Amino acid sequence: MKIVVVGTGYVGLVTGTCFAEVGIDVICVDIDAEKINNLNNGILPIFEPGLETLVIKNISNGRLKFSTSLKQSISDAGVAFIAVGTPPGENGSADLQYVLAVASEIGQYMNNYSVIVTKSTVPVGTAQKVQMAIQKELENRNLNISFDVASNPEFLKEGAAIDDFLKPDRIVVGISSKQAEEVMRKLYKPFLLNGHPIIFMDVPSAEMTKYAANSMLATKISFMNDIANLCEIMGADVNMVRKGIGSDARIGNKFIYPGIGYGGSCFPKDVKALIKTAAENGYSMKILQAVEAVNEYQKTVLFNKLNNRFQGNLEGKTIAMWGLSFKPNTDDMREAPSLVLVDSILKAGGNVQAFDPVAMKEARHIIGDKIVYCKNEYDTLINADALMIVTEWTDFRSPNFDKIKTLLNNAIVFDGRNIFDGKEMNELGFEYYGIGTRND
Ligand code: UDX
Repeated sequence: MKIVVVGTGYVGLVTGTCFAEVGIDVICVDIDAEKINNLNNGILPIFEPGLETLVIKNISNGRLKFSTSLKQSISDAGVAFIAVGTPPGENGSADLQYVLAVASEIGQYMNNYSVIVTKSTVPVGTAQKVQMAIQKELENRNLNISFDVASNPEFLKEGAAIDDFLKPDRIVVGISSKQAEEVMRKLYKPFLLNGHPIIFMDVPSAEMTKYAANSMLATKISFMNDIANLCEIMGADVNMVRKGIGSDARIGNKFIYPGIGYGGSCFPKDVKALIKTAAENGYSMKILQAVEAVNEYQKTVLFNKLNNRFQGNLEGKTIAMWGLSFKPNTDDMREAPSLVLVDSILKAGGNVQAFDPVAMKEARHIIGDKIVYCKNEYDTLINADALMIVTEWTDFRSPNFDKIKTLLNNAIVFDGRNIFDGKEMNELGFEYYGIGTRND
């Protein structure tokens, strides 16, 4: 079996590599010649644990190839995945120009029955637009080749994408013919050995599933952040409340950690896009509007704690920041809460000394020279007035607390991810502020 994956971003690269890993011949196509050249030499554009090893392995066994030519690749592939970007366009809706351009190009060069699969997160109704774009090109060529468009949303978590792809909880595929169902079932067979299902449905339902999943997860987070804020006011401890509710199987103990707001390339974009899709169709997504509003507020919470502690005067204060990426195990800075925090501290006249185990290069690229980038977490503390935990990297969980106290001007910790225990921190002599915890 041969497949082509168009777009070598996060989703496309993981998808192509994992299909190659189970024995399928894969060509990954991208218009960016430098990126393709680098990939052919085993140089990756992103950091994702385990990905580099698999790319290099599958290049050398000949199953994974990278090319800039869709024309050449599509002619002998039975399945084409469209995994190009869908950046937020005007008013929050997903910009489909790249997806539709690829669809047209596929229509220009396709020669046999193929299944064209949308893998990028696209609004309900996109598969139909892809279908029309391909059909138009075939008509221009006076060809009557049959094809199917399927929707196969990805549920990959950055930092755990390889495992998520190789051992998925479920695979969702929207199809409109038995033939497409058979092709997709055969393709995914190697990934179903753990007994998890492949769920076939109609195309609009598959497109909606992706948005509903991400919106539900974002809702859990905003709900917990709201509860955390109320816990602080009422003298309750959200860490206890979280354990208390999480042991109810109907609620579950995953994804209910309060923090400083969700970020990344998916949740903010997808929540906005679903609100927008609904509005365009005359429906108001009231819960999701609140989810978004709570998230925006949550990104200001840690700064407000800092500002209050210093009586609204951060002029000349230096803040040590541990973590910059939007979550651990990634260098992704998109919509990272750290960006809002850095901005607020600098605007208030403060300085930031930061360290992130992986995202330093990416952060420098986005934030520039406005903050000091340190060699390690302890260097951030030198002459700093407080420490802020921004990303819960495992590297930060058991630090040398004596060293922290010695290096900091004041033993004050603002823990945006509740990685430390407030009571233990107080016993160690720290003034400690968590999210939704008591400040005894
Ligand atoms: C998410 C979905 O999980 C994935 O299925 C989808 O394909 C893409 O979007 P990702 O963006 O990689 O994946 O990150 P995820 O691990 O889900 O975290 C998203 C955000 O939520 C992060 O900012 C994280 O810090 C925050 N979060 C997560 C919390 O604040 N609390 C939690 O309990 C969990």
